[in-house]
Amino acid sequence: MTKAKRMMQENIKLIDLVIELVDARIPLSSRNPDIDELGRNKSRIILLNKADLADPVYNAQWMDYFKGGGACVLEINAKSGGGIRGINQLVQEACREKLERDKKRGIVNRPVRAMVVGIPNVGKSTFINSFAGKACAKTGNKPGVTKGKQWIRLNKNLELLDTPGILWPKFEDREVGMRLAFIGSMNDEILVSEELACDLLRCLKEWYPENVCGRYGIQWKDTFAQVLEEIARSRGCYTRGEQLDQKKAADILLDDFRNGRMGRITLERPGRQTIEA
Ligand code: G4P
Repeated sequence: MTKAKRMMQENIKLIDLVIELVDARIPLSSRNPDIDELGRNKSRIILLNKADLADPVYNAQWMDYFKGGGACVLEINAKSGGGIRGINQLVQEACREKLERDKKRGIVNRPVRAMVVGIPNVGKSTFINSFAGKACAKTGNKPGVTKGKQWIRLNKNLELLDTPGILWPKFEDREVGMRLAFIGSMNDEILVSEELACDLLRCLKEWYPENVCGRYGIQWKDTFAQVLEEIARSRGCYTRGEQLDQKKAADILLDDFRNGRMGRITLERPGRQTIEA
């Protein structure tokens, strides 16, 4: 078992509520099913983060999808703080049963303890900073809590563990790995950008063809390699020998996609997530 998973298992014993962040552009591929097992018997919230980069139409559909499965869910932009204000209400909703149980047992004023979890790069640290804000105070070690853990007191009802739990994505599924690579959640050095860019173009052609044409002022061609050449031409990407530089064009395409310069794009659909690569 990995160290990260062991640490999660240790930390999860201390909390009442799991706040799971997923990437709104690929809400399924950016999850790890282990969390269902790890978070059993805990209250759960799912946050569709980076909603500012994802298609609003599908943000709404994914919200419905997760709600349909009984989850408490919210779309947010951890970077700007958008949507964060709705979380306190959601915490109350997600923890209603637990709070009622506490009340019956005469336990009052015990704050809910929460932990943020998610795969790398999904925005966990950004979210903690944004949610906790500047006003937060670290409460320090508590009796009965493993030494070294820091709790951030957000308000009288909620405390957050300052270290997020890291979940590993499902790399072994090729489709999932590809989508994680599109959003930049895999080590780019091990990937061939031209191949990745052609895979991305395949997805974009199916779902957002105009976004590509509009961004680069080009038309679709017979092959994706040709489209990459068109992008290279339109962006003036040439090698020293005056050849079209497809690698540079691929890097531009990937960077534009990751930073939302091609518009708001979602690459998974509830009920029909995959595009054959
Ligand atoms: P992690 O802890 O889960 O590994 O992720 P982290 O917070 O480090 O965030 C990873 C990247 O995602 C950061 O960008 C962060 O700014 C960006 N990010 C997080 N939440 C959002 C969001 O809701 N919308 C958008 N558009 N971006 C978000 P970076 O390029 O690594 O750093 P920076 O250049 O932003 O400083």
